[in-house]
Amino acid sequence: MADHTHSTPPAGRVIRSQITGIGAYLPRSLVSNDELAQRVDTSDAWIRERTGIRQRYFAEPDESCAFMATEAARIALADAGIAGDAVDAIILATATPDQAFPATAVRVQAALGAKGFAFDLSAACSGFIYALTTADALIRAGQARNVLVIGSEVYSRIMNWEDRGTCVLFGDGAGAVLLQAGDGDGSHADRGILSAHMHAQGDLGDILYVDGAVGRPDRPGHLVMHGREVFRHAVAKLSETVQQTLSHCGLTVADIDWLVPHQANMRIIDGVGKRLGIPAARVVVTVDQHANTSAASVPLALHAAYSDGRIKRGQLVLMEALGGGLTWGSALVRL
Ligand code: ACO
Repeated sequence: MADHTHSTPPAGRVIRSQITGIGAYLPRSLVSNDELAQRVDTSDAWIRERTGIRQRYFAEPDESCAFMATEAARIALADAGIAGDAVDAIILATATPDQAFPATAVRVQAALGAKGFAFDLSAACSGFIYALTTADALIRAGQARNVLVIGSEVYSRIMNWEDRGTCVLFGDGAGAVLLQAGDGDGSHADRGILSAHMHAQGDLGDILYVDGAVGRPDRPGHLVMHGREVFRHAVAKLSETVQQTLSHCGLTVADIDWLVPHQANMRIIDGVGKRLGIPAARVVVTVDQHANTSAASVPLALHAAYSDGRIKRGQLVLMEALGGGLTWGSALVRL
């Protein structure tokens, strides 16, 4: 193994995992609510009122999980100005991998000519926060210096098209960030991930799940959700984890420049914003454009607000997500 690891920061300095590049990929096929209503018993009005969703993108057969992840990663690398062979780890969060193995992350590694190690991570809609937190820990432990953290999902392939209560909620896509080892003085003025937290509560596993898997040839699996139960837990748990992440750094909601929430549903986003007292103008919303893209939703939203100039370098960004498991978590980053 190349000895690119175990670099120690100078005295009085700490290692910080810094986001130096952000990328995204959306499939070619855009499907409006009205178009969806031609194949499912629903309406644009119902979907918009209950969820805020106006449209979503669905992957074509050639737009695999690995393909979308690779495209998003290429944009993140170009943004950071580094080549694929400088990447020494890839963590790809997905619940819809192309194959049981090899991990989709190693397909991306091959496509990019990256080095080091690569693995997939399964935490449903919280996958990107879990992957970011894991990558931060690996960087601070000296295991890697240039880590691609990717969320890529093709939920259109696990939808039950007979269940209008779920199939209207999701879309496909991928988002990626490049995390690079840098240093700081250990204060919240540092650039990089300042605090990140993961949670899971397995006894809530049956309120949101896929009823099959690759290991079940009789049943590849469809998503099943008890929407009201999920909603009830989402607002409370997400507000709690945001407060935990902020207080870990001695910060409050007033210090955050942007909240980039998981884009499940406008009511959950509004509910968390209200409970925390964050003005809507500081909350990034893409659920209307992308629907719920699970592990891809946070990096897709981050990329949208970064590429249109709203989120700027040096600003404090709080990301949060909750999903099947239940799993949830949040990460505070100075960009
Ligand atoms: N179009 C038209 N009517 C519909 C649709 C649809 N797509 N889906 C359900 N309905 C009907 C139902 O049949 C029902 O009709 P009935 O009263 O005649 O029986 C009525 O609407 C209400 O159905 P509910 O399932 O009770 O709808 P609810 O008001 O709970 O809204 C929703 C559903 C939007 C999913 C809500 O439960 C919710 O916001 N849940 C939060 C969870 C969430 O968004 N999860 C996303 C994935 S999880 C995550 O990422 C965190």
